[in-house]
Amino acid sequence: MELVTDRLSKQFQSKIAVDRVSLRLGPGVTGLLGPNGAGKTTLMRLICGILKPTAGAVRFDGLDVTAEEYRALLGYLPQDFGYYPDFTGLDFLLYMSALKGLGKNAARRRSMELLDTVGLGRVYKKKIRTWSGGMRRRLGIAQALLNDPKLLILDEPTAGLDPKERVRFRELIARLGRDSVVLLSTHIVSDVEHIADRVLMMRAGQITFDGAWDPEDDLEDFYLRRFGGEAESDA
Ligand SMILES: Nc1ncnc2c1ncn2[C@@H]1O[C@H](COP(=O)(O)OP(=O)(O)OP(=O)(O)O)[C@@H](O)[C@H]1O
Ligand SMILES: [Mg+2]
Repeated sequence: MELVTDRLSKQFQSKIAVDRVSLRLGPGVTGLLGPNGAGKTTLMRLICGILKPTAGAVRFDGLDVTAEEYRALLGYLPQDFGYYPDFTGLDFLLYMSALKGLGKNAARRRSMELLDTVGLGRVYKKKIRTWSGGMRRRLGIAQALLNDPKLLILDEPTAGLDPKERVRFRELIARLGRDSVVLLSTHIVSDVEHIADRVLMMRAGQITFDGAWDPEDDLEDFYLRRFGGEAESDA
């Protein structure tokens, strides 16, 4: 089980958002850190086949990102995850299941199971418009898991979660990382510190750090020393 990106690049007009990124990710949780505009979302969208690369390739166990089978093993939570406010939580998951080609019975069983897993088992009959931001985020995580993905890409999954939800989320991700490849981006260094087996840091489209940090070292401190308070300029 391995995700490979090979000199993956994406250029928007004059802006190189992802610059020759070559990675090999095996099972486990990899955290992706970097300032605003570093290229995290663009890299993830390339890995999910939503954006076409300017150059380079993405493969999972030899399958190209453009292959139908690649889709089937992918789960994705976009940073700007959209939902339908007038759907109930269950309706939404059933709808997403249909898009992913799950059969009716399997969809219902899996949706109920996941609502429970993400702690929405009691509100699934209520319209999403009545839910809190954190609840919507958890629904986003649930929809990414519908097809039991072998490759799970989560773009800022913990944004808007309260501390209790965050702990629940960490436990869930740690479990998922045991038999799938999980890549998650976040601005919350402590999320990565607690669950990631590996940390990538990105800056101006390039991976500037890849590995574990010294456990004696505080990751937050390590991160701040590398990036300070900077954000990439959009110019
Ligand atoms: N569709 C697009 N068209 C033009 N430029 C884009 C597009 N998408 C991203 N960019 C630019 O590419 C760069 C990387 O953006 P990206 O969203 O990947 O960063 P990010 O690391 O996810 O940032 P954040 O932490 O704010 O989510 C930015 O300069 C951004 O303005
Ligand atoms: Mg982003």
